[in-house]
This record gives sequence, structure tokens and C-alpha cells, in this order.
Amino acid sequence: MPGNSFGQAFRFTTWGESHGPAIGCVIDGVPPRIPLSEADIQPFLDRRRPGQSRYTTQRQESDEVRIVSGVFEGETTGTPLALVIENQDQRSKDYGDIKDKFRPGHADYTYWQKYGIRDYRGGGRSSARETAMRVAAGAVARRVLAHLLGEEQVAIRGALVQMGADSVDRLRWDWAEVDRNAFFGPDAAMAEIWAARLDEARKNGSSLGAVVEVVAQGLPAGLGEPVYDKLDADLAKAMMSINAVKGVEIGEGFAAAALNGEENADELRMEDDEVAFLSNKAGGVLGGLSTGQDLVVRFAVKPTSSILSPRRTVDRFGQETEIVTKGRHDPCVGIRAVPVGEAMMALVLADHLLRHRGQIG
Ligand SMILES: Cc1cc2nc3c(=O)[nH]c(=O)nc-3n(C[C@H](O)[C@H](O)[C@H](O)COP(=O)(O)O)c2cc1C
Repeated sequence: MPGNSFGQAFRFTTWGESHGPAIGCVIDGVPPRIPLSEADIQPFLDRRRPGQSRYTTQRQESDEVRIVSGVFEGETTGTPLALVIENQDQRSKDYGDIKDKFRPGHADYTYWQKYGIRDYRGGGRSSARETAMRVAAGAVARRVLAHLLGEEQVAIRGALVQMGADSVDRLRWDWAEVDRNAFFGPDAAMAEIWAARLDEARKNGSSLGAVVEVVAQGLPAGLGEPVYDKLDADLAKAMMSINAVKGVEIGEGFAAAALNGEENADELRMEDDEVAFLSNKAGGVLGGLSTGQDLVVRFAVKPTSSILSPRRTVDRFGQETEIVTKGRHDPCVGIRAVPVGEAMMALVLADHLLRHRGQIG
């Protein structure tokens, strides 16, 4: 069946295309009596909004969200919550070149093969314009978590930890720095290096990949379901569903394969009558259930496929040709993927919190 929905107890469905009149989502399962207004959602959309620096696409969208269902007198009603954003800055003429040609690395070829019809304007449904609604739904998920667990209990934050081959120095990690530079980077010195590298890539008609890390702090232990809906399995699906993501890891991830059993063991002690782990190689999940430690997810984002350097391709008539993708594109899509990753984390956690309460109370 069509895969435009995500989650079980907290389930959202998105609709809309890059250059259609609007994009939107419906969220089902929002508990009633949670105070909610557009002002709770807008700040998160503003962080993802395009055109905020020369390192992101210059498409200008105010991304003003409207709640059109599910809220009465400032509180959720328990009925489906519907959110809408009008598209404002479509320039479909920029996309004449990709009307018949398939961009290497983009979804043009596969959409054409599957459906036999393709809204090529801005990438249609495959455009990351859709991720604005994930961020909007994620803001609602954050309100659910705050309402049920306590206002300051859970912190969900993301950061860019690598661009191209250049990684942050974790000794210089500063969460406050994330909102001070154009990359959501936690290392001010590395942000300057990234700026130079990305300027160079743009000048050469190229693009760069990135790695994003998302951390949730303050979770209770026990969220998650055995065995197919493990918390880490659902997080992996959530992150992998973001456009351009090619790899996901939890905690030590792929590096765990090079550790021995002693190095990888997160030993347990008692501190003030509470269980305390001495390390967090597992990334906050054991047996698919949260341990109560930081939940740590990283995902790799490929370099933008729409680039000005000519690439060989074919057109829909079976002719070999070349393509130069003009129009407005993110030179490193990993940057704007940071708020999207945070949103997907919030959505998975809200879903699992509601499922947990459904069974365990
Ligand atoms: C926030 C964000 C912005 C993106 N912006 C662009 C873009 O400007 N140009 C582009 O070609 N791809 C962009 N992408 C990636 C494409 O949407 C994606 O590569 C395409 O849908 C094909 O899907 P896949 O890469 O997941 O296989 C962006 C992705 C994200 C997460």
C-alpha cells in the first residue's frame, strides 16, 4: 500500500509536491487537551526554511503553517490534526531541462519507471519540500512528549558532525554553537573550514555530502517494542526515509564491529540507589528498548545530485545525452537535514511513548 504515513499510535500522513499549491499533513492519535497553536510549530519550520544563507537553496518560502483541524480554544481535541503550508516561490521554468532527462542520483528515473507520469517541477513528490511537514509534525510530537513526560524532561537536538571528509572535533563540541553558524555545526573552528570547502564546491558546480547526529536526552527506560518495532529499528527507518540519506547508525554503529567485548560492554554500577552505566556504546538502546541514557543516532547524507557540472544520462525517449541541472539547489543537503532528523526522532519517540502507555499504562 502507498507509503505516505508513518507511526502507529501517533500516525502522520503527508501530502503535496514541490510546486503544487500547498503541502500538508494529517496527524492522527494526538491526545486531547494539549495546548497547541501555530506558535509552537513555526520556530522549528523557521530553522529548516530555505534561503537563510548562501549555503542553502535560494528558494524563498516563509513556510507559514496553519492549523486547519484538531484544535479548539487553543487545545488539541483528539480528532485528526491537519496542518497546511502554502507554497509561494515556485519557479517551474527552472526545471525545463529535467522534464525529459533523468538526473543521475535523483528520483527522476525511478518515478518514471514506476508511475509512467512524473511531476518534474522541482522534483514533485520526491522533493525535500515534503520534509517541511515532517518538521511541523515533529513539533507537535515534541508537545506530546513535553505534555506527557514533563515540560523540560526530554531534549532532542541535532548537529552536523561531518561535511565531505571533514569531521568536527568532539573536544570542541558546544551545543550553543549549533545555532550560531550556518551549518548547525557544534564546532566553531570546523564551521569555518566547511564554509571554505562548500564555497569551493559551489564554485566548481559540485556538492558535498554530510553526516548528521541526533541525540535525545531525558528519556525514560523501556520505550520500544519487541521485536520488529524495536526503538532502533524504527529510528533507522525514520532516518532512512529522509531524502538523500544512505546510511544510519545507532551509538557506536559500524565502529562497534572493530571493538572487542570488553570495550563494547556498557558496564553497570549503582549511584545514589540508581543504576548508572559507565559508557554508552549501545547508543541508549538494548533489546530494542530505551536504557534511559542518551539516545544517539547518526545518518549519512549523500551529496546533492542536482549539480551544474555536466553529467551523462539518458532521456525518456531512450536517447543518450548530457544534463546540467540549473535551478536553485542546496549545495549540501545535509545542512537542512538536521532539523528534519530532529523531527523524525521526536515522531518516533511520541509514537513509542503512546504505544508504551497503551500497553503498560
Ligand atoms: C533538506 C533537504 C534538501 C534537499 N535539497 C535538494 C536539492 O536542492 N536538490 C537536490 O537535487 N536534492 C535535494 N535533496 C535530496 C533529494 O530530495 C533526494 O536525493 C531525492 O529525492 C532522491 O532520493 P534519495 O536520494 O533518497 O534516493 C534534499 C534533501 C534534503 C533532506
